[in-house]
Order: sequence, then structure tokens, then C-alpha cells
Amino acid sequence: MKNATQNTTFDVHKIREDFPILHRKVNGKPLVYFDNAATSQTPLQVIEKITNYYSTYNANIHRGVHQLSQEATDRYEEARQTIQQHFNAKHAHEIIFTSGTTHSINLVAHGFGSILKKGDVILVSALEHHSNIVPWQMLCEKTEAILKVIPMTELGELDMNQFDALLKLNPKLVFVNHISNALGTINPIKIIIEKSHNVGAAVLIDGAQACPHIKPDVQELDVDFYVTSAHKMCGPTGVGMLYAKEYWLEKLPPYQGGGEMISEVTFEKTTYAGLPHKFEAGTPNICGGIAFGAAVDYMNAIGFENIAAYENELLEYATAQLSAIEGLKIYGSSKQKTSVISFNIENIHAYDIGTIIDKLGIAIRTGQHCTQPIMDFYGISGTARASFAFYNTKQEIDRLVEALKKAILMLS
Ligand code: ALA
Repeated sequence: MKNATQNTTFDVHKIREDFPILHRKVNGKPLVYFDNAATSQTPLQVIEKITNYYSTYNANIHRGVHQLSQEATDRYEEARQTIQQHFNAKHAHEIIFTSGTTHSINLVAHGFGSILKKGDVILVSALEHHSNIVPWQMLCEKTEAILKVIPMTELGELDMNQFDALLKLNPKLVFVNHISNALGTINPIKIIIEKSHNVGAAVLIDGAQACPHIKPDVQELDVDFYVTSAHKMCGPTGVGMLYAKEYWLEKLPPYQGGGEMISEVTFEKTTYAGLPHKFEAGTPNICGGIAFGAAVDYMNAIGFENIAAYENELLEYATAQLSAIEGLKIYGSSKQKTSVISFNIENIHAYDIGTIIDKLGIAIRTGQHCTQPIMDFYGISGTARASFAFYNTKQEIDRLVEALKKAILMLS
């Protein structure tokens, strides 16, 4: 396997060599990939891990005495340790492999079905993705708990005065994203966790959009649950993780029943396996877990401080260039923001912008971004969203600006 690109100074051109997809053409033009918040691209170092798994040691894990099974088990458990160290979890068994953020949130919401009681209050933020809203609504239907919303402001930030007021209701649980996928706002999660704990509430942080940009330290944050997906951070789709404090993993019931999550099964009674297996029923995404570990290693070799500094430069540059386009309005202007720009252009539908610039080789996302409440807050049907990663360049932003100007000429 190649080593991840080593940088003393950040060399984006060298980094781009790791990503074969960035060298393809779309509609006859060199691809500009600005849909990183939807999914990131995959470097050769991760692709090679996947190929190597299927070429040399594909086998089921924790089940076989044979060599291949032992190799696969070892690599899978090493990946868990890599992820544990990355997030600074106290124990490897506090990392549960899941199919992604949505699965992780549903696992926790299901568990709270046997903890919450009628009338208990739980708090969600107005900035959430549907995946951090709907599972809790389903939980409220089941338990008759009450879902309250921490409102947002015009800047796309959480209204922390309203949050303080809602804490007086003594919520049992608070769930907030680390970074908004639609606006890029970085939420003050350390303060949110501290204040929630002061009133006895547990906190779940949806880190899907944060993990490509920031290295969270779950012990320093003292967070109860932190969830993310590998594919947002250079790994494959279909795998992610739930970090939870050991206390919670012991307390919550299993989410799914099946093989490998049991200690003993008789028709009279089944007892469950210890952590992490209690929450990992069935054959997991073995290759995905191993590749997730490789993606974490890849990003750490580049360095999260380097990534954040470079992406900030891209964000500042793009914000200035896009703001200069007449009729273009940016949604979400928090000072604490990552490299996501949601925008609309006067009298032009976001979908039309996306379609035209795709013809020019530029990939962005358009629509509600699974955050209808944010769109409703601004009174819009959706936005065009350009989201940048550490392998993007200012030249690509120039291509976006040029393409938007062409789209305006064509559509107005
Ligand atoms: N949650 C992903 C996005 O923001 C899919 O695009």
C-alpha cells in the first residue's frame, strides 16, 4: 500500500494524485467535484485496502478457526482500534460499527424507547438533517415523550438563549449536529454538552459533516453519543460508527437480534454478548470497517490542522467570489463555519443552476439537503450547495464562478 501523501506544507496537487476520480471528465470537461458534503471521494490508499481484502483474505469474522477468518477478524478489530484512537474513546468496545450515521441514530433512539416515559422532554436543534429528526419523532410516537426544538437565527446559528430556556424543562436527551450539512455552521457542542449535563440530559452529536474537517475528542467533549459515516471522510459507503460511553452501551437494549450478538440461545431465554458485539448482529460490513480504518489513517497522515486551514482558505475565497455575483444570496453566515456554501440566485431555480453547471463538468447538490425545516425557516424551496474538500482548488472555484455567470446569462 502507498503511504498517504506526507505534507510539511500543504501540497494540494500532490494530494489530488491520490484521487483517480478527480482526473476524469464529465460532459467533456474536467470534473470539478463540489458535492463533498453528500459524499467524499476515495483515495487510492483506501481503494487498495478494499481490493486487497477481496483479493487476499475475504472471510467471515469472529466465526472461523481458519487462517482467512483470523486475518479478517484481526484487520477488522485493528480498524476499530484505529477509530477508537482517532476519536480518543476510552475503550475499543465503545466503538460500534454501523451502516452509517442514520443507523447509529436509529440504534440510540430505539434504545431510549425503553428508557423514556410519557411527558419526558427531548430537544432537537432546528439545524438537523432529517436523519436526526425522524427517528426521534418515531420514538416520541412510541413513548409519548415530547420533542422540543432549539430555534435557529437568520445567520444559521442556534439560538443559545432559547436553548437555555428549553433546558429549564429538564430534558432527558439533547441531539444536535456538530456541523450543519446545509449551511456549514459549526455548532458550539462543548457548551451544549456541558449545559445539558448540568440538567441531567444525555447528548447525542451527529458528526457526519464534522468528521471530514475536525478531529473530535469524545472524552474531552464528555459526549454521551457521537455518530458518523465513513463515506463523508474518504471511506466507503455503507459503514459508519456509533461512539457511546460504556455506561450507555451497557444500559441500552440491543437494536437487532441475530448471530454474534448473543451469549447463549435457548428457546426459553437468550442472553446477550458483551460489548461491542451486543450491537453488531449478523455479518457486518467487514471490508467497509477495514476501509474506514484506512480512511482515518489517510486523513490523519495529511493532518486535520492542515485540512482545516486549507479548507478555510477555500471557504473565504469562494465566499468572496460568489458574493460578488449579482443576485446571489448565501444562506448561513456564521463566523464558525466550515467549507459549505448554500446559495440561491435571484429568479433562478437551484435545480436549473445545478443542471446547467453539470453540463460544464461541475457537481454540486441542489434541493433541500434533507433539511426541510431550515428551508422553511428561510421561506425557500431549496438551495444550490457547493461543498469543498481538502483536494479542491481555487482554480476549481474560479470554474464554478464562471459557470454560474454562464447559467445566469442563459436563464435570465
Ligand atoms: N447528508 C448528505 C448531504 O448533505 C447526503 O448531502
